[in-house]
Amino acid sequence: MITPDRLDAAVLDAAMGRALEIATRGPEGGPNPRVGCVILSPDGHTLAEGWHRGAGTAHAEVDALSHLAPGEARGATAVVTLEPCNHTGRTGPCAQALIAAGVAEVYFAVPDPGAVSSHGAQTLIDAGIPAQLGPRREQAEKLLADWLRDARRGRPTVTVKWATSLDGRAAAADGTSQWITGPDARADVHLERSRHDAIAVGTGTVLADDPALTARGEENGAPLAQPIPVVFGHREVPADAQLHSHPRELITLSGDDLAADLDVLWKRGIRSVFVEGGPSLASSFIRAGFADRVLVYVAPTLIGGPKLALTDLGVDTIDDQHRLVFTDVQHLGSDLRLTAEPVAPETPSTHPTSGAH
Ligand SMILES: NC(=O)c1ccc[n+]([C@@H]2O[C@H](COP(=O)([O-])OP(=O)(O)OC[C@H]3O[C@@H](n4cnc5c(N)ncnc54)[C@H](OP(=O)(O)O)[C@@H]3O)[C@@H](O)[C@H]2O)c1
Repeated sequence: MITPDRLDAAVLDAAMGRALEIATRGPEGGPNPRVGCVILSPDGHTLAEGWHRGAGTAHAEVDALSHLAPGEARGATAVVTLEPCNHTGRTGPCAQALIAAGVAEVYFAVPDPGAVSSHGAQTLIDAGIPAQLGPRREQAEKLLADWLRDARRGRPTVTVKWATSLDGRAAAADGTSQWITGPDARADVHLERSRHDAIAVGTGTVLADDPALTARGEENGAPLAQPIPVVFGHREVPADAQLHSHPRELITLSGDDLAADLDVLWKRGIRSVFVEGGPSLASSFIRAGFADRVLVYVAPTLIGGPKLALTDLGVDTIDDQHRLVFTDVQHLGSDLRLTAEPVAPETPSTHPTSGAH
């Protein structure tokens, strides 16, 4: 922790604690972090507070400054939970706003790892304003854990989900797969859909199942949020497909280069993708090392035949297997819900877990 030159460490610590507290008022998830800001007078009194209310709205520093009269922040200390941003998005760079307001110094709890938004501290320093790490980094890292993970990775987090019979089949020989699992598991899938920014399938699934890809049901009395539907493939989505009635606009991607496609989704503000199959698309995501989480609903039923839940994963020899660890196991009605994650963090390479035993 940095000892402030001008302010008492306890005052700075309390201000950062308050900034972290008000940061939690912002919305969770989505492309923007939850950030809080407290502006302190030279003698350590709080002049203003601000927090970020979500994409397209003022950032925490700008929100705090908006409560002050022109010149009132001159000589003040800005205490922010995240390094002030440096890029002109929809709301303008915070580093410039702090410079324009005439603050004397800036403390932030976590550096911004974003490729576009980072280096705000350097901009402030170049303008003659000391900007440095302040207290409570661990607490701020915890608050921003998901956002920081996404920003450091620079691509959406991917969950690959499938429903399977006990013998690992995703469909019967004729391609029918509705339904393998029971109503409790299916209701859980709707909840999971609503917790992701986008939900993706391949054209094979669109043509076989005509899925609506909506999140149906309620949570805490409110209708579930609708993820953006994404279809991977070259074949056309039929004109009469249910997908065309989805409340969100459909995104279609070729799937030829999943890294490039994930980048397209990232740039559209999508931070989490729920890949719902089918087996070919799910396998491609796993093979490419993009499956950050695997969610499998297992029904106590036996189907047999050729329609396996996954296809080729690039595992020619057992040393190449994609090792996972179970992170959660639940009974849902008569089915099981299994969550697993790669042993080593997945990276965008072809054989991320190669060599893991
Ligand atoms: N049990 C389950 O959880 C579940 C879930 C979904 C589907 N299903 C069943 O699965 C069957 C359909 O299987 P499927 O494997 O054909 O479906 P799929 O994975 O949804 O579709 C495969 C198609 O997606 C396109 N695609 C685009 N990028 C791709 C990539 N990187 N890797 C692989 N494919 C890519 C290709 O089509 P283009 O030729 O158009 O490029 C490919 O032929 C149906 O019987 C369905 O009922 C089961």
